[in-house]
Amino acid sequence: MQQRREKLRYGMAGGGEGAFIGAIHRMAAAMDGEWELACGSFSSDSQRNARSGAALGLEPGRVYPDMATLLAGELALPENQRVQAIAIVTPNHLHAPMAISALEAGFDVVSEKPMALDLAEAQAIAAAVRRSGRRYALAFTYSGYPLVAEARLRVARGDFGRIRLVQVEYNQGWLSRAIDTEGNKQAEWRTDPARAGMGGCLGDIGTHAFQLAEHVSGLRVEAVSADLTTHVPGRRLDDDVSALLRFEGGARGTLKASQIAAGEENGLKIRVHGELGGLEWSQMEPNTLTLRWLDQPTQQVRAGGPGLSAEAMERTRTPSGHPEGYVEAFANIYRSFAQAIRSGEPQTSWYPGLGDGLRTMAFVDAMVENSRSDVKWTAIPKI
Ligand SMILES: NC(=O)c1ccc[n+]([C@@H]2O[C@H](COP(=O)([O-])OP(=O)(O)OC[C@H]3O[C@@H](n4cnc5c(N)ncnc54)[C@H](O)[C@@H]3O)[C@@H](O)[C@H]2O)c1
Repeated sequence: MQQRREKLRYGMAGGGEGAFIGAIHRMAAAMDGEWELACGSFSSDSQRNARSGAALGLEPGRVYPDMATLLAGELALPENQRVQAIAIVTPNHLHAPMAISALEAGFDVVSEKPMALDLAEAQAIAAAVRRSGRRYALAFTYSGYPLVAEARLRVARGDFGRIRLVQVEYNQGWLSRAIDTEGNKQAEWRTDPARAGMGGCLGDIGTHAFQLAEHVSGLRVEAVSADLTTHVPGRRLDDDVSALLRFEGGARGTLKASQIAAGEENGLKIRVHGELGGLEWSQMEPNTLTLRWLDQPTQQVRAGGPGLSAEAMERTRTPSGHPEGYVEAFANIYRSFAQAIRSGEPQTSWYPGLGDGLRTMAFVDAMVENSRSDVKWTAIPKI
């Protein structure tokens, strides 16, 4: 008789009613039947916390007022009931303290980006990962898309020759007005340095753009030349970011991230060019990867369609033409993390984690330092 596979149990910090990303994590974790939500601390407001837990069908005893109580409560349960991992989907200032306490209590962690408020905090998380021997995944969502995996693979196997250019842009328009002072919860904490970190748009979406640029090109950025601007009067953090990038091996790049590009939705796009050709992928058209050549017509490959690698196919759930997107990309990260936990291996090859987190926080630090000085280039340490 077949042995029944137990779902992995996880708890959630943040993601209460009205929150954005917590619900996406719950859908993604549930998608492949790998994960089951078993406890949470969804809000620092006790009424909202209780309502959120009840709406998700949790036992009242497993809806905890805060992270410390959650960890103690779960550790008091028998191992076959206790959660194995904690998903952290709160504003940024809670990522480091929550991740460190969860890791040290013996739980694996899936955290939202940015990893922490700054590089020093990120290094403290890395130290906790090493001390505890637990696993740590970061929700750099865009590396979960099948055609991002395809793009990375085609660059790595040399289809385009030596890489010369990497251009990444991430344009949103939702912070074009001062909605942070008009009661928009998501905007309010994102523009507060104490809860967002040193970067506004930079930390929120610039980190996604940077991670995607390094992930697809396979190259590390060695130095940045930055221009951080705040367009909306009174706003305390940047809302518009431009940077020149110098990559190892001589490639050059540009990074543009803006949250005041009025009318834009979630315009993340990357282009990578080598000596022989290049590729283009856009998050709002995620099931198409465009390939351009010096000496051949332009090609398009499609998610689920012919010509794709095994890496891209295993991240695809439906036949081509049945659109997959954001939630499925998130689900690919949860599925890969589940496989790593079940296999007992310390780290599988591709889910985003410590390396991506440390690199992006070093990027944020270098961008802020560079934009405050008259120095043309600021180095990003090799991490
Ligand atoms: N990977 C992605 O694509 C992506 C997209 C959006 C947001 N994010 C990240 O997700 C995180 C949350 O963003 P959001 O837009 O969902 O924010 P949000 O304001 O919508 O939700 C934050 C949630 O955290 C809860 N919270 C705050 N303090 C808490 C505490 N002490 N204990 C328990 N819960 C607490 C709030 O009640 C709320 O439910 C941020 O770090 C953000 O950068 C990532």
